[in-house]
Amino acid sequence: MKTQVAIIGGGPSGLLLSQLLNRSGIATVVLERKSRDYVLSRIRAGVLEWGTVEMLREAGAGARMDAEGAVHGGCYLASEGAMFRLDFNALLGRNVMVYGQTEVTKDLYAAQDAIGATILHEVDDVALHDLATATPRVSFTQNGQSHELTCDFVAGCDGFHGVSRPSIPAEVRHEFEKVYPFGWLGVLSRTPPVRHELIYAAHARGFALCSMRNPMLSRYYIQVPLTDRVEDWSDARFWDELKARLPAEVAADLVTGPSIEKSIAPLRSFVTEPMRWGALFLCGDAAHIVPPTGAKGLNLAVSDIHYLSEGLIQFYAQGDPAGIDAYSERALARIWQAMRFSWSLTTMMHRFPDSSDYDRRMQDADLAGLMRSEAAQRVWAENYTGLPY
Ligand code: FAD
Ligand code: DHB
Repeated sequence: MKTQVAIIGGGPSGLLLSQLLNRSGIATVVLERKSRDYVLSRIRAGVLEWGTVEMLREAGAGARMDAEGAVHGGCYLASEGAMFRLDFNALLGRNVMVYGQTEVTKDLYAAQDAIGATILHEVDDVALHDLATATPRVSFTQNGQSHELTCDFVAGCDGFHGVSRPSIPAEVRHEFEKVYPFGWLGVLSRTPPVRHELIYAAHARGFALCSMRNPMLSRYYIQVPLTDRVEDWSDARFWDELKARLPAEVAADLVTGPSIEKSIAPLRSFVTEPMRWGALFLCGDAAHIVPPTGAKGLNLAVSDIHYLSEGLIQFYAQGDPAGIDAYSERALARIWQAMRFSWSLTTMMHRFPDSSDYDRRMQDADLAGLMRSEAAQRVWAENYTGLPY
């Protein structure tokens, strides 16, 4: 088999890259380890920056998002009993779109199907070869048969546990990591969201987040110790704990119901540099992980694809390598800004097991400063709604 760009991973970053390249006449093959149903069963991100919204439209995959997604011009931050609204529309004239990653992925698959793109599912043993040469190759198996794909470039869009990042020699890679001493327990339920906008709540019992997918589908999260297992959390225990962490007037309005999904995700910050080595480009979670607090994971994957697709289109259309040569530096500059925002929001809102009274006063002062200062809110809103590409 032969293609121009081999794409490892059929999550949001791989599918969006494939879609944008195909629309510019560049041939791709997407290799995905799991079945399509499995990829679509993952419940992950829910908030899209406006740049992400525009990228999905540009890819021809935005119609259902525009019809069914919810435009939000603000969100709430709460601390113990107090709650205030950050009005990013009034502060900056900007909004975010609430539309789940599952739906984004479904729309990208539909758009890829419509243009006859090649996506191979349930491939195993993917290995990258000759990345430092002009003729890289990807070997893999499917249904027990061995295959080889030759290409000009490889896009590593295969998430944090994929094969692409470790294909860069260890002596070239510089990895930065911070692991947080807690996780998030997430619950999806067919209940009306407790408020029309998201609530990020700090509390002595731990952080809580009220989010949603649509008017009859809620997504809630609570901070839990890393030692907890999903089986430790009955629905009743979850709802009681969530209510205990929300301001009383919000808790009183919370409609509970059976969970339809429940999972625990650890929190981590991770970046690898550089994001390009020879013919290989890393994108999305393959290169970086943010704690979910700032809702940046999916949005960063999309901004990586913005830079890479632009560079590859420039290369194939004009023979100009400037964009692909600048990819790693351009993507990393934006990634570190989002890393900092996600780290600072995580630090301000969570209860750390080893924190002192002093540390907790610092968190209170951070939140009080944000509540008091319009200038601070503008900076926060600029980061939350998404920095420019
Ligand atoms: P992925 O979505 O991970 O896609 C990578 C794809 O590559 C997968 O389909 C995988 O099956 C495939 N793959 C892996 N290895 C191989 C291989 N060897 N060969 C072939 N294919 C391979 N972000 C938020 O903003 N908010 C959230 O609430 C949130 N919750 C999350 C919860 C969890 C449990 C996780 C893991 C992530 C969460 N994120 C969240 C982050 C967000 O979902 C990711 O940033 C986003 O999915 C990144 O997209 P991606 O395409 O780069 O990677
Ligand atoms: C969701 C997840 C987040 O991490 C976040 O900051 C906002 C929303 C969600 O799943 O809806």
